[in-house]
Amino acid sequence: MTDQTTVTEAQIAVHWQEEEKFHPHHSFIAQANMTDESIYTRFGLDNFPDCYREYADLLTWDKLWHTILDTSEAPTWTWFKGGMLNVSVNCVDRHLALHRNKAAFIWVPELEDEPLVTLTYQELYARVNEMAAVLRDECGVKSGDRVTIHMPMVPELPITMLACARLGAVHSVVFGGFSGHACGQRVSDSGSKVLVVMDAYYRNGGLIDHKEKADEAVKTAKEEGVNVEHVLVWQRYKDQYHSQTKMHSSRDHFVADLLTKHRSAIVPPVSMPAEAPLFLMYTSGTTGRPKGCQHSSGGYLSYAAGTSKFVQDIHPTDVYWCMADIGWITGHSYIVYGPLALAATSILYEGVPGYPDSGRPWRIAERLGVNIFHTAPTTIRMLRKAGPDEPLKYNIHFKHMTTVGEPIEPEVWRWYYFTVGKGKAAIVDTYWQTETGGFLCSTMPAIHPMKPGSAGPGMPGIHPIIFDDDGHEIPAGTPKAGNMCIRNPWPGAFQTIYGDRDRFVKTYYAKFNKDPKSKDWRDWPYFTGDAAVAASDGYYRILGRVDDVINVAGHRLGTKELESACLLVEEVAEAAVVPVNDEIKGKMPEIYLALKPGYKKSKAIEDKVVKSIEVSIGKIARPRHVWIVSDMPKTRSGKIMRRVLASLSNGRDVGDVTTLANPEVVEEIRQMVQGAK
Ligand code: PRX
Repeated sequence: MTDQTTVTEAQIAVHWQEEEKFHPHHSFIAQANMTDESIYTRFGLDNFPDCYREYADLLTWDKLWHTILDTSEAPTWTWFKGGMLNVSVNCVDRHLALHRNKAAFIWVPELEDEPLVTLTYQELYARVNEMAAVLRDECGVKSGDRVTIHMPMVPELPITMLACARLGAVHSVVFGGFSGHACGQRVSDSGSKVLVVMDAYYRNGGLIDHKEKADEAVKTAKEEGVNVEHVLVWQRYKDQYHSQTKMHSSRDHFVADLLTKHRSAIVPPVSMPAEAPLFLMYTSGTTGRPKGCQHSSGGYLSYAAGTSKFVQDIHPTDVYWCMADIGWITGHSYIVYGPLALAATSILYEGVPGYPDSGRPWRIAERLGVNIFHTAPTTIRMLRKAGPDEPLKYNIHFKHMTTVGEPIEPEVWRWYYFTVGKGKAAIVDTYWQTETGGFLCSTMPAIHPMKPGSAGPGMPGIHPIIFDDDGHEIPAGTPKAGNMCIRNPWPGAFQTIYGDRDRFVKTYYAKFNKDPKSKDWRDWPYFTGDAAVAASDGYYRILGRVDDVINVAGHRLGTKELESACLLVEEVAEAAVVPVNDEIKGKMPEIYLALKPGYKKSKAIEDKVVKSIEVSIGKIARPRHVWIVSDMPKTRSGKIMRRVLASLSNGRDVGDVTTLANPEVVEEIRQMVQGAK
C-alpha cells in the first residue's frame, strides 16, 4: 500500500524550515467568539466526553439527550443518545424570531451582469418547506430514504438539502463536476430512488448542459440494479430548458411545475434521533469503489456549529464567504450547516474564481462586504499567479481567512496574509477530512499565533497522536514523520461507510487497535491516512497521504479509480497512476500505461485514456501526462513499482533499482519522461 510516495513525500515536506509565527491583530481578538484559553482545559482528555456538552448546547433539541457518548458498538460511536432534533429547524426555523429578514444566502451568478439573488431566512424557510412538500408528496420521500443531489452552486442546492433534512431523509450530494457515470455509481450505492439535478449552469462563461449527466447516471444505476423513479430538474432560467436531452415523460419533472401545487406549503419537521444519518458524502479510497461516508444529525451539526463559531469566528453580523463547492465536505459543513446553524449570511458563488479575471473574488467581496473568506491553497496559488496585485485594487477588509484541504506553501501563505488579508486578517489553516465532519487541527484564531505551512494544534477536544508503523508514539518535536491519528472520538466523526461497516473498521480503526473486542474508546485511535510531523510547540504539519489517494487541487482521487478507468480502454494491458507535483494544483495524476501485445503506442490511445477518465470520473481527474511505456518497472513478485514511477515523474532520483525484475526499463522510462521535461 505504501509503495507510492510516503517516504520521499514526507522527507521533502519535512525540509520546509520552521517558520516565524504571526500574532493575530488586536482588532480581531477584541471581537472574537473564543478568547478563553481555558477551553483547552475544559476539553482535555480528563473531561472527555462530557466536554462536548458545550457543542450540544449550541443546538435546539426537541428532546434532550441522556447519554453523551455510547460506546457499546465500538468503534461505532453514538453521540447525544436519547436526543431528538430536526436539522432544518436548527438551521432555519429557529432563526426566524430574531433574523427573519436577514440574508441567509446571497447567490452570485458567474455572469457579472446577472442580478444577485438574496434569500432571507424567511424566504429560505418558505422554499425549504415547499421543496419538502414536493419530495414528500410527489416522490414519496420519507425519513431514512436516500436522495441523490447532483447540482451546481445555486441556492436550490441547499434548499433541496434542507428539504431532505426536514423530512429526515438522507441526502447524498455529488459534486457537479463528476461525470454522469460517477454520479450513477453513487446513486446505486446509496439506493436512491430520487435524483435531483439542474438543467444547466455557468462555468468559465459558458452555459453547460448538466441534465445530460442525469440520463447517464440513471443508466449506470440501472445497470447496477437500482431503478431511479424520479428525476427532479431545477431550471437555471425560469421557463427555459437548457439541455439537449429530452425530459422522460413519466420519470423527469421540472421542480418548478411541481412547486405550483405546493405554494406556501408548510411541512412539519420530522423529529429525528441524534444518531439518525443526515447525509452521505462519497470520497475516494484505496480501492476502486468510492465510499459513502455517513454523517449523523445531532453530532455532526453540533460539531459543524461549534467549529464555525470558534474557529471560523462567525457572528450573525458577519458576511461569510466560503469559496468551496457544496459538493464537497467543506461546502456541507462550512457553507451550509455550520453557518446556517449560527444564523450567518453565507455567500454562494456559481462560478470559477478566475472568471472573467482574477479580480473577480475581490470584486464580489467588496460589493457584498465580505469579512470572512475561506478557500483552498489551489485557489490561492492560482489567484496569486494570475493577479498578484489584484487584491490591492479593491476595498476589501477581511477579519478572518481560512485555508483548507492541502498543505499551503509558506510563500503562498505570506501572500494570502499580507496582500489579501492586509496583515490584519487572522488566518486559520484547517486540517480535516470528509470523514471527520469538521476541523481536526487548527489554531484558535484569537488564542494562538499562526505559523505558515502548519495547521496548528489539535482542536479543543481532539487529541492527535502520531504513531510509527509499529504503533509507537512519535513525540512532538521529533523530526520524523508518522501516521496521524486521533486518540478519541468526537461528535463530527462519520458513523460508518454506508453499507460496509467492515471496511469502515478496517480502514480507520483496525490499524492501531490492540483489542478488537474492546468497548473502551481509548483502544480505538482513529487513523487519518495522512503522514504528519508535530513540532515541539504542538503544531502539526500535514505531509500528505500514506495511502493510494492523490489530493488534486484539494480534492481526493483514488489511484485505483483512475487505473480502472484506464483499463477500460481496449489496448491497455496495465496502468499505474502516480501523483506529480504541480505548481497550482498541488498534485496531479500522471499515468503510465503498458499496452497489450500487438498494439503500438499512439496519441490516439493516449486520448482514449483521457476520455475514459473524463467519462468514468469527470474532468477534475484529467491527468497531467500519459506515458506509454514498453514495460512497467516491477518487483520480482510482479508488483508495479509506483514509487519508482513517481520519482521519475517528479524529477527525482529513483534510488537503487537493481533488485527489480527489469531494472533496464527504468532508464528507458527516465529518458522518455525526464528527457521530455
Ligand atoms: O491529506 C489531507 C488533506 O486532504 C485530505 C482530506 O481530503 P478531503 O476528504 O477531500 O477533505 C478536504 C477538505 C477537508 C486529508 O486527508 N488535507 C486537508 N486539509 C489539509 C490537508 N493537508 C494539509 N493541510 C490541510 N489543512
